[in-house]
Amino acid sequence: MSTTVVKSDGAPRRGSISLSGKRRGSGTEKMDTHIASWHTRTHLHEDNPHAREEDLKKLLERYTKTFTITPQRLKMITDNFVGVLEKGLEEPEQTVPMLPAYVFGWPTGEEVGSYLALDLGGTNLRVCHVVLKGKGKFEVTQSKFRLTEEQKQQEGQLLFDFCAECLNTFIIDHFGDANGDVILEEEIALGFTFSYPMQQDAIDHGKLIRWTKGFGNPNTEGRDCAAMFRQSLEKFKVPIKMTSLINDTTGTLIASNYVRQDTRIACIFGTGCNAAYMEHIGNIPKIKSLGLPDDEDMAINCEYGAFDSFTHEHMAEVRTKYDEYIDLHSNKPHEQTYEKMIAGLYLGEIFRLVMCEMVDEGSLFLGQNTYKIEKPYSFDTAFLSLIESDPTEELLTVTGLFTHFFGLDTTIVERKFFRELAKLIGTRAARLSSCGIAALVIKMGYLEEGCGVGADGSLYSKYPGFADRLHQALVDIFGEKGKKIVTYQAEDGSGVGSAIIAAMTKARKEAGKYAHV
Ligand code: BGC
Repeated sequence: MSTTVVKSDGAPRRGSISLSGKRRGSGTEKMDTHIASWHTRTHLHEDNPHAREEDLKKLLERYTKTFTITPQRLKMITDNFVGVLEKGLEEPEQTVPMLPAYVFGWPTGEEVGSYLALDLGGTNLRVCHVVLKGKGKFEVTQSKFRLTEEQKQQEGQLLFDFCAECLNTFIIDHFGDANGDVILEEEIALGFTFSYPMQQDAIDHGKLIRWTKGFGNPNTEGRDCAAMFRQSLEKFKVPIKMTSLINDTTGTLIASNYVRQDTRIACIFGTGCNAAYMEHIGNIPKIKSLGLPDDEDMAINCEYGAFDSFTHEHMAEVRTKYDEYIDLHSNKPHEQTYEKMIAGLYLGEIFRLVMCEMVDEGSLFLGQNTYKIEKPYSFDTAFLSLIESDPTEELLTVTGLFTHFFGLDTTIVERKFFRELAKLIGTRAARLSSCGIAALVIKMGYLEEGCGVGADGSLYSKYPGFADRLHQALVDIFGEKGKKIVTYQAEDGSGVGSAIIAAMTKARKEAGKYAHV
């Protein structure tokens, strides 16, 4: 089967920012469009004064203080987190909204059939054909389409049009005959994974509460995204019925449990961050009026990336000026506070802001042209992974990274400093990430027995040491018992999970169970 892949057009990012006005070492040269060549060396460049070892040592002490979170602080944040989660279940429209997902109970593992899944995440749009084979087995064929910066800001309906078009292309490629005509023997249900906070009152409706992860498409917040998507399906005459609308964490929860039954919680640590878990309906006071049975379970999409938004009271002691800067210069100031401190979209930016501060203070890249590094979001979080995992003694990968992408010379002392700084920022993210999981564990009483936590997202799967650091933080919070809370690489929630949920929903509706939701 062929797949279609559309690549990013590398759309320009927003304008340049500075922590404190004009920076030393910055020039006025025009941006090069060609890729720079570079060389490596072990000796200092005679012309440009490089950072002195003693100065970097002092700076490292300063940043260590800034980014280190003690076990005691982790415990305090976790305790507050528990209260916030409970409040979200009690009352509607809370900062951490604890959204009922209308997915009832765990899968049996015997769900079978052929499904389509559409996954609108933070970075890509994916279309998947999933064949569930029962006994936790499945097969997936997928196509990925990179979203451009422009698509994340254009009129909302156009974004859904793009989703429908990609889906149509996929269906024609995979189910069409030689003329491109699509004849489906039986209707294939589509599960739509829409990974943003949605207020749902049924499995196939979802009102977007707010955009996250840098999206800003107008005329979408407050509207039913399922209805908008259906309108696009009609426009392109896509012969498919969307039966469920889910969040990526809910999909991950179900997909992980499908293959590993001790899974109780699922998390995403990627461009954004969030978690889902299974709650007893009786413990969700805010939906009491629906008259659903108290003793059954429903998945909750916590949307806890919003923890500490607006008031910034629970993490005030650990929130830095870099976090605040990122927040205030984002398209959604004061929102997603927790997410902005730990998610993949932001870690590279935190690192970059620290470097810019050092340039401002005259301790880094003196005499070099720093305009490339001054560009907001130019330092990808993947660079932190690279810096932390450079296997060479001279940190040659780091050398190459700075010369190739930023035209900057570095010394071994500076490169070692960068590695420590990446470690600090990456470790803080992993440790803070543990608080949300720990809060759910406390809330649900999972500590004694222990539980599996399915985790996914680029940070979790690609950032070196992320899982180990997170596990260490769980031990810091719970002591030895923390070892019973084990995170593991989850199955593809947005694809496979979405298909399983489509299958569960179909079975539920056929059985006439809560057919109205
Ligand atoms: C969104 C969540 C999503 C998470 C991970 C957050 O920004 O609000 O809905 O689950 O990112 O993709």
